[in-house]
Amino acid sequence: MTRTILVTGATGTVGSALRDELAERDAVVRAATRSPPGDGSADEWVAFDFGKPETWGAALEGVDAVFLLRPPEMSQVGRAREFVDAAARVDAEHCVVLSVLGADRNPLLPHRRIERHVESSGLSYTHLRPSFFTQNLLEVHGDAFARGEIPVPAGDGETSFVDARDVGAVAAVALTESGHENAAYDLTGPDALTYDEVAAIAEDVLGHPVEYTDPSLPSFVLREVRRGRPLAFALVMSGIYTTARLGLAGRVTDDVYRVLGQEPRSVRAFFEDYAAAFREKTR
Ligand SMILES: NC(=O)c1ccc[n+]([C@@H]2O[C@H](COP(=O)([O-])OP(=O)(O)OC[C@H]3O[C@@H](n4cnc5c(N)ncnc54)[C@H](OP(=O)(O)O)[C@@H]3O)[C@@H](O)[C@H]2O)c1
Repeated sequence: MTRTILVTGATGTVGSALRDELAERDAVVRAATRSPPGDGSADEWVAFDFGKPETWGAALEGVDAVFLLRPPEMSQVGRAREFVDAAARVDAEHCVVLSVLGADRNPLLPHRRIERHVESSGLSYTHLRPSFFTQNLLEVHGDAFARGEIPVPAGDGETSFVDARDVGAVAAVALTESGHENAAYDLTGPDALTYDEVAAIAEDVLGHPVEYTDPSLPSFVLREVRRGRPLAFALVMSGIYTTARLGLAGRVTDDVYRVLGQEPRSVRAFFEDYAAAFREKTR
């Protein structure tokens, strides 16, 4: 039977990749966003806001499975928990949670609090715990790359970058195939790289010099804020890069391979696939 799948965060990095994957599968995709585009890029677009419970009913009607993300800008975990309860009430069966690597070791993390709520909701679940998305290099630092810099404070620490397209592919499998109920996957790329190694790959693929500058934490925060990023965002990024600096972001797993039956995409493949987008930034 064709399943109807609600994709929250459908316009985001993983949600977009997930929609591409689900388009190849036997599923009706209900794509949730605060501003539906009204085009044919999903089976159904639905106006949805975690902060507006009055939008949840239409989004959840007749849904078999839910892809649940916590938008980075959403401070209240309570809203996500209430939404999970609403999904359970309308008899959705399965929830795939976009969490974060290491959530299982940090009970105070909002992602882990949402995971635990889903576990007790009556829905079956699959927790996806990805490492740092390779796409951040373009989406967060693309302008700096264009100037030939990677200005992040990660020291010599390694990161097991995962391509968001692989996260979307694993989510699509967990939403449409059985055998992934009440499971958790730690999603990483094929290897762990320092930012010096990332710079060398970028330089090789993009054909212009790229230097990893490794600023101090205060100068990183100051620079990001001067460039117009909210202080909270700069502080969260600092925390993430500090984790890498401390050598805690380099764990590599084979969970992507175990679910997809193919190797995760490498950082080199990412630069090759997105070279045109990086070049666009230099114009
Ligand atoms: N970036 C990383 O390296 C990384 C690594 C591991 C885990 N994660 C986790 O992944 C999640 C983010 O995923 P992503 O990067 O795919 O998202 P994203 O690209 O940051 O996009 C955010 C999405 O959330 C939606 N959204 C924002 N506010 C909303 C609201 N009030 N109600 C409903 N939807 C709302 C946006 O949709 P509209 O604007 O269209 O409404 C958009 O689709 C976070 O929980 C993050 O912690 C990120």
